[in-house]
Amino acid sequence: IKRITTHILQEMKLRGEKISMLTAYDFSMAGIIDAAGIDIILVGDSASNVMAGYETTLPITLDQMIYHATSVVRAVKRAFVVVDIPFGSYQGNSSEALRSAIRIMKESGAHAIKVEGGAEIKESVTRILSAGVPVMGHLGLTPQSIYKFGTYTVRAREEAEAKKLLEDAKLLEECGCFAIVLEKIPASLAKLVAESVQIPVIGIGAGPDVDGQVLVVHDMLGITQEFKPRFLRQYADLRSIMTKAVQDYIDDVKAKDFPKDSESY
Ligand code: KIV
Ligand code: NA
Repeated sequence: IKRITTHILQEMKLRGEKISMLTAYDFSMAGIIDAAGIDIILVGDSASNVMAGYETTLPITLDQMIYHATSVVRAVKRAFVVVDIPFGSYQGNSSEALRSAIRIMKESGAHAIKVEGGAEIKESVTRILSAGVPVMGHLGLTPQSIYKFGTYTVRAREEAEAKKLLEDAKLLEECGCFAIVLEKIPASLAKLVAESVQIPVIGIGAGPDVDGQVLVVHDMLGITQEFKPRFLRQYADLRSIMTKAVQDYIDDVKAKDFPKDSESY
């Protein structure tokens, strides 16, 4: 199998082939997604919500992200694996940012890291890139800044924020980032960004006119409950399937129908 690289992702943008990306946090899920043919697997800090049950992405630690990333990398044969640098491990200063990025790359074997923000973190991004670590940007609704925003509503609806977002995207490209995620912004602005930079722009709640799409896998499989933003298309109802399976198992155990002789030694 030919592995996906930053070079291949760049070619996909040029060709107009949309890039597919999903999150994964563990070996089993990553193996399924990779074998299905996904282009990019993101070990997102959404693990904080989906795996650990926290309300925000802020609590997850660098060690925990490395644990998730290591599990994912062990399963992946083809996809490009990107890991979120967690809150608090890169914003402070660029040498700490570099140290965090290097730990992720060295200990997990992942292929790139993702950071949230633009001009504010320029120094950290530049330093990580100069160490040879590919960096993916993330602009728009950046969940690590949720307490600054106050809500999870659409970002960059106003002129000033839209202008800054476009400038940040160009800055990230200039720094040498290989791609940018745009989260929950108007489709028209996302289109403008994707046309204004040469690197792939991956959207989540950013409309159709970008170079690829990303979703949280537990959301699109219908495992998570209650989180139903407009941008989320649910491709399966795994929660119902799993609930039914567990109930059937309980019934069989109670009814002494499991295990049968053929299932015993
Ligand atoms: O952590 C995450 O899942 C993400 C995606 C939503 C882009 O950052
Ligand atoms: Na994230």
